[in-house]
Formats: sequence, structure tokens, C-alpha cells
Amino acid sequence: MLIASLKPRTMGGTTNSGLLAYALERAGHRVALYDADESMQLWAWGRDVEGFPSPVTVAADVDFAEETYPGMDHDAINLVDVGHAENHADIVDSVLEVADLVIVTMSPTGTDYARLTRPERGTSLSKMIRRSAALRESGEPPTTVVLLNRCQAGAASPDKYRDKLRADGWTVLTSRIPRREAIASAVGFPCDKPERRLPFDALVTELDKAGYLK
Ligand SMILES: Nc1ncnc2c1ncn2[C@@H]1O[C@H](COP(=O)(O)OP(=O)(O)OP(=O)(O)O)[C@@H](O)[C@H]1O
Ligand SMILES: [Mg+2]
Repeated sequence: MLIASLKPRTMGGTTNSGLLAYALERAGHRVALYDADESMQLWAWGRDVEGFPSPVTVAADVDFAEETYPGMDHDAINLVDVGHAENHADIVDSVLEVADLVIVTMSPTGTDYARLTRPERGTSLSKMIRRSAALRESGEPPTTVVLLNRCQAGAASPDKYRDKLRADGWTVLTSRIPRREAIASAVGFPCDKPERRLPFDALVTELDKAGYLK
């Protein structure tokens, strides 16, 4: 299967992609990683850290669906980290053509909510996902879930934005990634701290139980 890690702009996407890959591996899945962001941070993380869950293939390509997807090991969980949808709609469109599951990272703030649903300029990620149906074999948009991240313990904002997103029709995961220094500094380093593991183990359990992992 192919999981696409998407976000409208900088929201913690690469951090979540890498730590999710580690958690999938801990849960016994074979993982293959792709970096479809021109900033190549997931690729560099894989280069720099011994024992990263898989080598990372660079795939920041508007022909992702035609050039990269067919060569994947379709029995593994392929995970692609994608750059800003706002600036790289062409790459996002190509990934959406073939993704089985989209995980949208969003921080529970008004600006990030607006960037996802109704940006001041440009096409919203929500619209990109819906329009992808026209190019997909199924004729339906990919299954999409929102992962709230950088959630402050005890703050009202995660519930508030979960409710707003659900009212808009989004599926919002129960698992949340907390705001933590150990997670903030995760990119480029091993997954050696419990704070980098536990929320992502819970995420994998939820994805598995919901039947999203194939
Ligand atoms: N759970 C978290 N708690 C605190 N800070 C976080 C958390 N997750 C990510 N961050 C911080 O958010 C910032 C963005 O993270 P990251 O680089 O993963 O995002 P991105 O969406 O991949 O950005 P880019 O636009 O560069 O691709 C970083 O400064 C990172 O340290
Ligand atoms: Mg990134």
C-alpha cells in the first residue's frame, strides 16, 4: 500500500513521516520510504541515521504516479513525505492519483485550519483531495485522515479543531501527537526516546484497528 503524508505548508509532516515509519517497523511491517519534497529532509534523515527503517528514495516528481509508484514493493507499506501542497500542487496531484491512505498533519490553530480548508490564496488541500477522484482508478478520492500534532496537554484547541474538522466532513484520528521537545528535535536523529515512540505506536494501533493498513 501507499500512505501519503500531506500538509498544506510546514506543519510537522516530515517529523510525523519519519516517526510513523519507525513505529510501523516496530509493529512488524516492512516499510519503504519516499521523499517527494524538494527540501529532501526525510531523505537526509535516512542518510544520516543508522538503522533508519528504510533507505529513502527521492521522488519529488510531477510524474510520481507514472514513474515512482509502479516500481514500489506493493506488499510493503510505502510511505511518501510530500512537500507543501500550497507550493507543489503538481506533485501532490500526482501522489493523490495513487495513494491508498492520506494522513494530513495539522496543528490545532486557526491559521493551520484555514490553510487546510480555505486558504487566502490558492487551492485548498481539501479540494485537491476531492478533485483527485477524477484521475483515480476507483473514481473516488483516497481515504483521508487528519492527524492533529503539536497538541499542548490540557489545551482546548485540539478538541475545538477536531470538532470543526469533523463538522466539515474530515475524519480526525483519535491519536494525537503532543507538543514535545523530544519530537521537535527528532528529524535527523534516532528514534531513541519514549516520547518519540509512544504517540506513534498508538497511531499505528489506531490505523491498524480501523483497517487502514493493508
Ligand atoms: N510534536 C511536535 N512538538 C513540537 N514541535 C514539533 C513537533 N513536530 C514538529 N515540530 C516542529 O515543527 C517544525 C516543522 O517540523 P517538520 O520539519 O517536521 O515539518 P514539515 O511539515 O515537514 O516542514 P517542511 O515545510 O520543512 O517540509 C520543526 O521546527 C519541528 O521541530
Ligand atoms: Mg518536511
